[in-house]
Amino acid sequence: MKVFPSGAALGARIDGLDLAQPLSAADDQAVVAALGRHGVLRFPQQKLDGAQLKRFAAGFGELEINVASGAYQEPGHPEVMILSNIVENGRPIGLADAGQGWHTDMSYSRDIAFANVLYGIRIPRRNGEALGATEFSGMQAAYEGLPAAVKERLEGKTCLHDFNKFWEMMRQEKGSKRPALTEAQKKAKPPVSHPMVLTHPITGRKVLYANPGYAVRVNELPHKESDELLEFLFEHQLKAEYRYASRWEEGDVLMWEDIGTIHSAVADYRPHEHRLVKRCQVMATRFIPPEERA
Ligand SMILES: [Fe+2]
Repeated sequence: MKVFPSGAALGARIDGLDLAQPLSAADDQAVVAALGRHGVLRFPQQKLDGAQLKRFAAGFGELEINVASGAYQEPGHPEVMILSNIVENGRPIGLADAGQGWHTDMSYSRDIAFANVLYGIRIPRRNGEALGATEFSGMQAAYEGLPAAVKERLEGKTCLHDFNKFWEMMRQEKGSKRPALTEAQKKAKPPVSHPMVLTHPITGRKVLYANPGYAVRVNELPHKESDELLEFLFEHQLKAEYRYASRWEEGDVLMWEDIGTIHSAVADYRPHEHRLVKRCQVMATRFIPPEERA
């Protein structure tokens, strides 16, 4: 396999691997190292069925089964979620409004996510340009770029992450038709706390772990100071120098790690511009041992 860095803060293309086949131990190690270094990896020209996508993703940790998306799972493979705006016989075949806004998947969960593996099957285009890019920002570099005084301030601090924050943002700001969470659904996903600075399990570098999608409160600070610090961090972490946008091609597998990056889906395509992407959510079970998890 060959790694071609994008030249931006994040991102690399990996050629020479057929992800339909099991990875050798050497290739697995090389992919993990590239993931730590570049955060976002694109494997072009893949041809995978649901079982092969699942096997590739499962090599990096346990896969989450998203209970909320029961209707949008690959038949026989509930770990494979379907993201799509295609409607067949009056019924959507996938979740249409995923992830439009900066966030890290699963930061609202006690066990955090390690990576996402997406497979692009239909990618909308307009005037030859691929639509529906995925944008990223690198949180290893963002941490390192913080003023020393802020780094000091973050030491030992924890942040509360709330699933409902992103859900409501999608409803109120992005025109999502998803219903408000019921009290029972909120109870099933209570806010959880994580340290604001994590050590990246692959690179050993420090990571700013507080994303605009889910982070609501610095637990150890009074409300006003917490709001001010989060506002500062949310602005800082999106500086151009940490950013990278990945443009899709059909047949791409796009893999990114969730601990050292945040991401946002660009919703620049319309309902008739069809998109179909399959997704697996890899939890941090392989790279963070149980005793180190929250
Ligand atoms: Fe996401």
